[in-house]
Amino acid sequence: MQVAKRLEGIGEYYFSQKLREIDELNKQGKNILNLGIGSPDLPPQPEVIKVLQEESAKPNVHAYQGYKGSPILRGAISQWYNKWYGVDLNPDTEILPLIGSKEGIMHICMTYLNDGDEALIPNPGYPTYTSAVKLAGGKTVPYTLTEANNWEPDFDALERADLSRVKLMWVNYPQMPTGQLPSAGLFEKLVAFGKKHSILICHDNPYSFILNESPASLLKVSGAKDTVIELNSLSKSHNMAGWRVGTLCAAKERIEEILRFKSNMDSGMFLPVQLAAAKALGAGKDWYDSVNAVYRRRRNKVEELLTLLGCEFSAGQAGMFMWARIPGTYKNGYALSDEILYNASVFITPGGIFGSAGDGYIRVSLCSTEEKLTESIDRVKTFLKK
Ligand SMILES: Cc1ncc(COP(=O)(O)O)c(C=O)c1O
Repeated sequence: MQVAKRLEGIGEYYFSQKLREIDELNKQGKNILNLGIGSPDLPPQPEVIKVLQEESAKPNVHAYQGYKGSPILRGAISQWYNKWYGVDLNPDTEILPLIGSKEGIMHICMTYLNDGDEALIPNPGYPTYTSAVKLAGGKTVPYTLTEANNWEPDFDALERADLSRVKLMWVNYPQMPTGQLPSAGLFEKLVAFGKKHSILICHDNPYSFILNESPASLLKVSGAKDTVIELNSLSKSHNMAGWRVGTLCAAKERIEEILRFKSNMDSGMFLPVQLAAAKALGAGKDWYDSVNAVYRRRRNKVEELLTLLGCEFSAGQAGMFMWARIPGTYKNGYALSDEILYNASVFITPGGIFGSAGDGYIRVSLCSTEEKLTESIDRVKTFLKK
């Protein structure tokens, strides 16, 4: 069967291919330690699971839910934004709960891009921005982030470019894969840039609570709602990746526009999941501290592994990964990743899958136990001694 033209140039997600290869190697008895994927391995708070259990036992919670999500969840998201980011959002009009923030990326592209409209995409960046823009019929215009420029957009270069067809710009700080936190002034510059060129600045913000003491929202900038859409998620901050709960926050008009698409795509989430998510959002600082204490200990181990591999990395990266420059002895991150996979049975992600500007880097996930990380270090040491 001929697939639709829109799938041309959309390959299978790198990880899905690589996971198949890792499965094959495991079948051959290799027992690969996978330090690739960023899926939190720890559970949510026990109270959150209790709400899900209690609510799902009720007889009257199993019907279709409203397209705009439960008012209880929208209220909890609004309070969460106020408490942690200092941002006021009207829970009735400025918040749209999502089945994870990944689906929000697609909804935004489908809502705003006509054939040939352009979207600025970070290189390196989350690969879904590129595929969502292409699937929506848009054209990707990559903008390069460099270590020398703290992985931030080069606004002078952007100003020199032809922006006449650009409708959207994807940004994401703390940045994935580089772990870069936004510098003072970056968010103001983004909002000013969006306003000047009538570009919707789409901020994907799922990592702000991980290894970061100052969670920040792009919506905090004065006047941001004129030009910003922000996506957020409980996947990482609340260890709920499999639950699929996220949110889209923006001006009332944007929410209404996006709802025109989303309400035709899917329906509201299972109510007990929404109520449990609302509970999760009420967590105090002790919750975030406990999550970060685990990641901090793991980060020390990952730093040991990266040092062993001769990589260089910056301190103070935020998010669930460590991003590191590979030594010049390797052609690129793919070469290092394959060498370690085939000789030490440890999988780490080559930076090139996030765009050409990531070629000289690798990314290691913090979603493995300290024991697994210690075992990875031992395996790499054994390989390097040979
Ligand atoms: C930058 C970035 N945005 C969005 C997502 C998707 O998160 P969610 O689970 O909310 O769909 C991920 C997940 O890996 C991510 O790394």
